[in-house]
Amino acid sequence: MVDLDEYRAKSLQNWDSFSGNWADEHAFLHEATGGVARALVDGLDPQPGQTILELAAGTGDVGFAVAERLGDAGKLIQTDFAPGMVEQEKRLAADAGLSNIEHRVMDAENMDLEDSSVDGVVVRYGYMLMADPAAALSETKRVLRDGGKLSFAVWTAPDRNLWAFIPAFALVEAGHLDPPDPEAPGIFALADPDRVRSMVTVAGFTEPEIEEVTVDWDYTDPAVHWEKTMKLAAPIADAINDLPDDERERIKGVVADRVAEKVAGDPTAMHGHSWVVTTS
Ligand SMILES: C[S@@+](CC[C@H](N)C(=O)[O-])C[C@H]1O[C@@H](n2cnc3c(N)ncnc32)[C@H](O)[C@@H]1O
Repeated sequence: MVDLDEYRAKSLQNWDSFSGNWADEHAFLHEATGGVARALVDGLDPQPGQTILELAAGTGDVGFAVAERLGDAGKLIQTDFAPGMVEQEKRLAADAGLSNIEHRVMDAENMDLEDSSVDGVVVRYGYMLMADPAAALSETKRVLRDGGKLSFAVWTAPDRNLWAFIPAFALVEAGHLDPPDPEAPGIFALADPDRVRSMVTVAGFTEPEIEEVTVDWDYTDPAVHWEKTMKLAAPIADAINDLPDDERERIKGVVADRVAEKVAGDPTAMHGHSWVVTTS
């Protein structure tokens, strides 16, 4: 059984320490996950003048596309619980010339916002990593005005996301990670669409629309897959970084062999697949 307080503290420390990597890889992420960002923004359908909240924004890619639609009279409240991520997203927003964004450090499970104070909420790859996603969804419902839309993305099943499953499975197989508990927070915690549907409706939202969208990770070269995983997939990279050097090298070899075998059969085998969920 996962100790959720311990998980929360570790997750915060971990994501904060990965904020520089995420900023370095902003263009790579923007390119690979563009289809998901477009589906989220279409689902949210932000209008000029609205106030939109982004949770777990990381370095802010999706929110920047939303902010462009809101105009000077609108506002994006862009938030993350990791101060390092918020600093990076602030810098990248300034570089992009976006001036209608308020940046805040905020935990999505406990939001410092008034009831019914935003017109819409967007979250990419956030809820499944939170210690208590049900609490975060219920907080989301509280701050959203009546009829306001929520648009979010999570990862689908492990066999549709070999980019993460191959290294995670190598760690489990070697006894470095416990076999995943499907209810515990993690990359695949909301992979089951029935669980998503149930959590969303229990939090008071309408029956969601759930669409599968591909993420075009360019991981035909196992060395690139390893480098990006170690820079971006914080929960996996953290477990690998904890290993002694020789064991880390062994795991790296196992992962490289499996990635090479998969992409030899299908060059798109390492692409990712996300659920894009829209509700109100
Ligand atoms: C996989 S990254 C996604 C970043 C960004 N949304 C994107 O798609 O580019 C996950 C982000 O969730 C944030 N996060 C995790 N748990 C959180 C929580 N309880 N409240 C707010 N942010 C959280 C992390 O700090 C990290 O920036």
